[in-house]
Amino acid sequence: MKIGASRESDSNEYRVALVPETVERLVKAGHKVLIEKGAGTIAGFPDVSYSQAGAETVSAIEVAKSVDVFVHVQPPTTDEVKALKNGCLVVSMLNARNDASAVSALASVGATAIAMELVPRIARAQRMDVLSSQASISGYKAALLAANALGKYLPMMMTAAGTIPPAKILVLGAGVAGLQAIATARRLGAIVEAFDVRAAAGEQVESLGAKFIHPPTSEDAEGSGGYAREQTEDEQHIQRLFIKEHLANVDAVITTAAIPGRPAPILITTEMIEVMQPGSVVIDLAAESGGNVEGTAPGEIINTNGISIHGPINVPSSMPFHSSQLYSRNVMALFDLIIDKKHGTLNLNLEDDVIDATCVVHLGEIRHELNS
Ligand code: NAI
Repeated sequence: MKIGASRESDSNEYRVALVPETVERLVKAGHKVLIEKGAGTIAGFPDVSYSQAGAETVSAIEVAKSVDVFVHVQPPTTDEVKALKNGCLVVSMLNARNDASAVSALASVGATAIAMELVPRIARAQRMDVLSSQASISGYKAALLAANALGKYLPMMMTAAGTIPPAKILVLGAGVAGLQAIATARRLGAIVEAFDVRAAAGEQVESLGAKFIHPPTSEDAEGSGGYAREQTEDEQHIQRLFIKEHLANVDAVITTAAIPGRPAPILITTEMIEVMQPGSVVIDLAAESGGNVEGTAPGEIINTNGISIHGPINVPSSMPFHSSQLYSRNVMALFDLIIDKKHGTLNLNLEDDVIDATCVVHLGEIRHELNS
């Protein structure tokens, strides 16, 4: 088969969907790989590394019109979609839960589409789980952003001029991103405490050397698939009072709380921010889905009373070498499931749990109405 990737069109997107390591595996398996010239340069993969791996570097439209499988990080451009061969398989994150436009565009040209963000959270699919691979990078970066923005050391420092106590960091939401933020902040020497509505997160938080904090009466809020359920108004009220007590004593807060398919829950209101000390830092990793902090502006840093609230967007793209490598490996794991090794052809078993959940369009027919 012909398999290819082009450069991402979004100006903030530095990732590339196929890296040389994956290209080499595909070429060894007998596939022809086409990559747009310059597609991986910003991520740290120059054209020569693709040529050495056995790919041909061509224009974006040449890739789109030639391939049987088109791999992307974010949806392909309108021109690329128009150029696709009938029945081409597009493998990409499609934001299918929140925006139908990419799915409809691909359906309109008779394509088949797999939305990588819909890989189910089951053990068998862990190798394909782009949400986890990318969230882990976001969590790591969030701790670094906090460290960078704080006018303080994170570790305890014993200097000739006296001892500096370690910084205190509060992490709200201890899923994939939150746990990585905790691990990174701990490695940098901060004292970390964390809160999550899922009781199961407690043990993981403690295993990283952080303290799990929760309101005394809180009930476990684990919903389906290991995700959190939405909180009732009463629960939210109790949580906010509880979090507010902790805000006055921390130097930085990293928020990572999300509910799949819903706007992010507001965990910190403007009134709560006021109890923080000047110089404190808030990193709101949920900025793109509405934010966990009232007043977060996506892609911006807001300063109020000496407290800076950061709303970083597309954080994985800021570390494009490893985010691309992990994304590409996730895609390769999907290929192991959907490419018949013996014949080198596509074998899309729509009854397989992973394919059923992710295949949003099959030969032009929309299979899941996710955002109706
Ligand atoms: P996510 O990005 O949807 O949410 C992040 C965290 O925010 C979660 O831990 C959630 O419980 C928490 N949260 C939601 N509302 C909150 C609130 N009001 N206050 C405080 N925290 C709140 O979730 P993520 O990180 O993608 O995954 C969450 C869980 O999913 C994992 O910890 C695990 O149990 C499961 N999972 C399973 C996988 C598998 O089996 N393949 C792979 C990855 C995750």
